[in-house]
Amino acid sequence: MTPKKVSERLKGASVAQSLASGAVPPPLKRSEPPKELALVVEHLGKRFGDRVAFDDVSFEVGYGEVFGFLGPNGAGKTTTVRTLGTLLAPTSGSAIIAGIPLTTKNGADIRKLISIMPESPGLYQRLTVGENLECFAGLYGLVDAKARIDEVLRSVNLTERGSDLCGSLSKGLRQRVALARSLLNDPKILFLDEPTSGLDPVATRDVHELIASLRERGVTIFLTTHRLEEAERLCHRVAILNTTVALVGRVDELRQKLFTKSLEVRIGAAPGDLVQLFDRLPEVKAWVKQPSGSYMLTVTDPDLAAPAVARALVNSGADILSIAESHHSLEEVYLELVEEDVEAKRR
Ligand SMILES: Nc1ncnc2c1ncn2[C@@H]1O[C@H](COP(=O)(O)OP(=O)(O)O)[C@@H](O)[C@H]1O
Ligand SMILES: [Mg+2]
Repeated sequence: MTPKKVSERLKGASVAQSLASGAVPPPLKRSEPPKELALVVEHLGKRFGDRVAFDDVSFEVGYGEVFGFLGPNGAGKTTTVRTLGTLLAPTSGSAIIAGIPLTTKNGADIRKLISIMPESPGLYQRLTVGENLECFAGLYGLVDAKARIDEVLRSVNLTERGSDLCGSLSKGLRQRVALARSLLNDPKILFLDEPTSGLDPVATRDVHELIASLRERGVTIFLTTHRLEEAERLCHRVAILNTTVALVGRVDELRQKLFTKSLEVRIGAAPGDLVQLFDRLPEVKAWVKQPSGSYMLTVTDPDLAAPAVARALVNSGADILSIAESHHSLEEVYLELVEEDVEAKRR
């Protein structure tokens, strides 16, 4: 048995198992649009001529859920948001947005129920924060605009900045104004496209706190990001996208599905040949030596394998420093799934 790369393992049984166990929702056949779901997306795709922006994307999002759409640059995140937000027509598949089937005819009805915060805030720099919000409240045709503007400014902690010119605000504050604008129509679904892109750590933390408070209030959020810690911190579930959806689930579930059955073994001195030792153990399916010097063993059952590995190491005279079930980061899951350079491939 030779050490196997994690990616090889992923492309083999683990991914197949996770798919079989329903990580990517199976195609749905419904006659009635489900009222209880905010988004139902089935085999959705968008091409620009020969160029595939995203393909065969399927997932569901419940009301009150913060759903992360995680993927590298060029994965198709913005195009997905624009398609679900009725700004672009899909070229294949179907979707139901807040109970309404995504069709050109339904565009206006859907837009009343949703809101999109694009990657760049798109505010009028020479107008004040308040004037910007009045302008957009007018477009929405809000009746009690003044009260609503005060409310959204309060919810992004910008009550004091209503009369500042948008052009004079930092990038972080402008992003908060954009968030306030996207809350004006009290959307059933809020699409946030890379909300912290280009922000410094302090502004990023502020935006994260605002999103977390929206999450607390039960706002349904579709959040695209290429930042893993953002997805991990804010999202109930994530989809990992690389033109198509590779995996959907809770972050801890994704980790488990792909990685839990492994043991990390740290050894001090080892007189014998560990290659032979690990290869001989039936409980060890594959193993790899990490750059840190520890050994990562893929096992069928950690509870059976750990004592077997310990016994074999002790018998061989090796000094065991630790044997632990390994916990992998979202970053490891993500990098394995999106390691290809999708954008370059398309050129
Ligand atoms: N209007 C367009 N015309 C042609 N290609 C586009 C257009 N918009 C996006 N694309 C292409 O679709 C792919 C996905 O883009 P995008 O959705 O912006 O990715 P992401 O937001 O994940 O970075 C990219 O290859 C991009 O060049
Ligand atoms: Mg984008």
